[in-house]
Amino acid sequence: MRQLIINIKQLCQVEYAGDQARNKVAGADMAVLPSIDNAWLLTENGRIQGFGEMSALQEQHADEVINAAGKLVLPAWCDSHTHLVFAAPRDEEFVDRIRGLSYEEIARRGGGILNSARKLNAMDERELYDQSFIRLQKVMAQGTGAIEIKSGYGLCLEGELKMLRVIRKLKENAGIPVKASFLAAHAYPMEYRENKEGYINLIINEMLPRVAGEGLADYMDVFCEQGFFGIPETERLLEAGSKYGLKPKIHANQLHHSGGVEVGVKHNALSVDHLECVGDKEIEALKNGNTMPTLLPGAAFFLGIQYQPARKIIDADLPVCLATDYNPGSCPSGNVQLLLSIACTQLKMTPEEAINAVTINGAAAMELEQEMGTIMVGKRAALIITSPIPSLAYIPYDYGNNSVERMIHSA
Ligand code: NIG
Ligand code: FE
Repeated sequence: MRQLIINIKQLCQVEYAGDQARNKVAGADMAVLPSIDNAWLLTENGRIQGFGEMSALQEQHADEVINAAGKLVLPAWCDSHTHLVFAAPRDEEFVDRIRGLSYEEIARRGGGILNSARKLNAMDERELYDQSFIRLQKVMAQGTGAIEIKSGYGLCLEGELKMLRVIRKLKENAGIPVKASFLAAHAYPMEYRENKEGYINLIINEMLPRVAGEGLADYMDVFCEQGFFGIPETERLLEAGSKYGLKPKIHANQLHHSGGVEVGVKHNALSVDHLECVGDKEIEALKNGNTMPTLLPGAAFFLGIQYQPARKIIDADLPVCLATDYNPGSCPSGNVQLLLSIACTQLKMTPEEAINAVTINGAAAMELEQEMGTIMVGKRAALIITSPIPSLAYIPYDYGNNSVERMIHSA
């Protein structure tokens, strides 16, 4: 199957095989999005076969010719942090927060993550899969072409396995790359509130061997935060995960300067995610490691808390990745276009920086840089074709609206 896209107004985020392989972009380079105006692109059997300027297009046989006059073509978004598998929304807590309760207060009285866990444990696997699949289809239509999904609403052996099996089934059926993170350390279940050590032991001694034994997870996640999992607990959990080959990819510094960034870097985490509370100390730690700083401004927006200091991180010559954090509590939206609008308006990222953050850097935060994240010959043909729009900046500018007209998801 060959698809030829012609008359592309702007082909964005191109990369040439002869270039030095870029697996992420950092600092001032984030402002650059290599593009070709008036371009063509050819796919063959789900891979990018070639691209270039229209003026140099030679005659090509194709099964489908797509005329993209006035439209932009980009690599699909790589959303490297989501909790897309959940049983029910939490709109009642949304109203509680409007009335003045904080996210932490709601969690302390047994709501929040524990509320989601009760509902998930009461739902059978089939139903959980069906509604998660619908959610995944929806974000795929909005531009997402690769996604990471976490467990963490089971908080018991059976519940965590159920979630991870649902994620595995999504992996098998979605037709896009899906990565799974094991996040039993998301909150302490009620019955372990006075026995935190007991819950950590349960994760390490009973859950991890089963999860690893069934090959259900790619990464090990921990909600490292005051009032959730502290530094010593996080270190124990990450070390236990690494014995099973699970790289760390953790929640850090959302609510406090909790030391999560430093601990992530120390344990060679693939990414540290959230980062609302980041100062010089955390930036210094990031500069001494290879860990991707991943910002989740959709959660800061929805919780009404401070935004992440993206400019400070970029000015320190670091890379920035953006992800949605799609979940029923702190960010009930998996729409990357909306995320781009928030990143531009609130974090003061330029459209080019924001798009680098959800393409090449998003791919790197899921170890998919060989397959996704740029328009390069041989990579997956995971492509966004926009509606006719005036410019790249129009995507985040036109906030709350959809600029994605058609998706090509290579199977
Ligand atoms: O990334 N911060 C921890 N976990 C999620 C929220 C989960 C929830 O509230 O259900 C987050 O924001
Ligand atoms: Fe999260």
